[in-house]
Amino acid sequence: MENNHQVTDTKSPLQPHVLIFSLPFQGPVNCALKLAELLCLSGIHVTFLNTEHIHRPLLLHTHVVSRFNRYPNFRFETIPDGVEHEKPVSADRFMEVMEGIDTVSRPLFREMMVSGSLSSRSVRPVTVMILDAFLSFGLDVALETSIPVVFFETVSPCFLWTSCFNLPTLIEAGDVPFQGGNLDELIKSVPGTEHIIRRRDLASFCRSDDLSEPIIDLLLNEARTVPQAQGFILNTFEELDSLILPHMRKLCPNIYPIGPLHSLHKARLREKTTLMSPKTTFSNSVWKEDRTCVSWLDKHAPKTVLYVSIGSLATITVNQLLEIWHGVVNSGKPFLWVRRPGSITGGYEDSQIPTELLEHTKEIGCIVDWSPQEHVLGHRAIGAFLTHSGWNSTIESIAEGVPMICWPYFSDQQVNSRFVGQVWKLGIDIKDTCDRLIIEKAVKDVMETGGNMFRPCADGWKILAKESVTEMGSSSMNFDRLINDIRVMSS
Ligand code: UDX
Repeated sequence: MENNHQVTDTKSPLQPHVLIFSLPFQGPVNCALKLAELLCLSGIHVTFLNTEHIHRPLLLHTHVVSRFNRYPNFRFETIPDGVEHEKPVSADRFMEVMEGIDTVSRPLFREMMVSGSLSSRSVRPVTVMILDAFLSFGLDVALETSIPVVFFETVSPCFLWTSCFNLPTLIEAGDVPFQGGNLDELIKSVPGTEHIIRRRDLASFCRSDDLSEPIIDLLLNEARTVPQAQGFILNTFEELDSLILPHMRKLCPNIYPIGPLHSLHKARLREKTTLMSPKTTFSNSVWKEDRTCVSWLDKHAPKTVLYVSIGSLATITVNQLLEIWHGVVNSGKPFLWVRRPGSITGGYEDSQIPTELLEHTKEIGCIVDWSPQEHVLGHRAIGAFLTHSGWNSTIESIAEGVPMICWPYFSDQQVNSRFVGQVWKLGIDIKDTCDRLIIEKAVKDVMETGGNMFRPCADGWKILAKESVTEMGSSSMNFDRLINDIRVMSS
């Protein structure tokens, strides 16, 4: 594909120059790089601003860097974040990273935008900023510099609507904090989800009794600033979030649902390049993928393998590991399990693991540190996904028609898993339990009897997801509208 990018003349002074500043975690960076590449393919000049702690591992992945280096209209820039690089960043360091951005990156970002120092290193000044919606301080920079800002949210619309945009309503209605209330009680104060969302399905942050926690501030800021931007990009498609989007549009009229972003990315790359096979995926993974699991999957019959992964931030205790492990092995299904280094709190030795579990694993399991997940989910052997319900994993699974067993960990995942179970009928939500019997039953229900229950919905959503990224599909047209609007904002 190297020599086949059909970009227009990037030296033209009329080309817009978009600055993308993503949240510095694996999931958001992966997504934002896909958006960046889509903009490059549309002839737009892109500067991708990464904070230092996430840029370092990315630099080790020369395939990602050299792929982007081939675009004459793309460049990386970095900004310090004060985050210690040596320790792995998992969920328990989320707020540390956010505080680093606030205290270290935020003033430097303002300075580089107000002084024009970032623009001066490019062929033309930045004309539009696309910022992660968590970086709400970008709105002040936009007002100070008169550079239009479009926010980009890589988490789910169902989370944004129920637990971020409606957080002030939840607080006012006395629904948050919970103050010991029944977790199964329906939340009536959020328009559109009155019959769906229980207390336990709101974002994990809502479980705190302390409204002065920094994360609550972050969400309230996001709810306040996003509607003031020129637009809002979401990784979903119109049909999938038809329950939520009409409500959100009352607050943010200019929404661009362009998902599944990885599918749109793949479709547009295929259109613009000639050397891409239908099976190729262009991963922007910050970590090295172990592709040996693909040949392991090749040996299995269609829809027989369970894929297990908890994403890039979640961690589990050894007890939880054992419950999940027993449940998976007892289901009797072959499994591919991603065990990210550092994801088991305190680690474990094989001597702590019952011998029969290790033996069964040798027979029917494959364990890797990190997989090429998009490729794995698209593999014919995959029959179900035991997931932490991160939004990227969820939409990647929906796009491939893979039913899910949801074990949400934190953040938006509690809401996503509820929508998977109740709204999209794509699987079973086992939140707030970690029990080998429940896991075994859920795996069997989704892969055996559930084959009848969830398969038609999974197939249906897969078709709609694919249609949305075809030339006249909703996400494709929303993306073209975004490109047009960027050109208008830049003129
Ligand atoms: C975080 C939050 O935890 C999540 O709730 C939020 O919705 C997005 O940001 P993360 O926990 O990493 O993300 O989960 P997820 O959103 O599912 O993203 C994981 C990404 O890593 C996916 O794009 C997935 O394809 C990729 N991945 C995961 C791999 O490439 N290989 C793996 O082995 C596992």
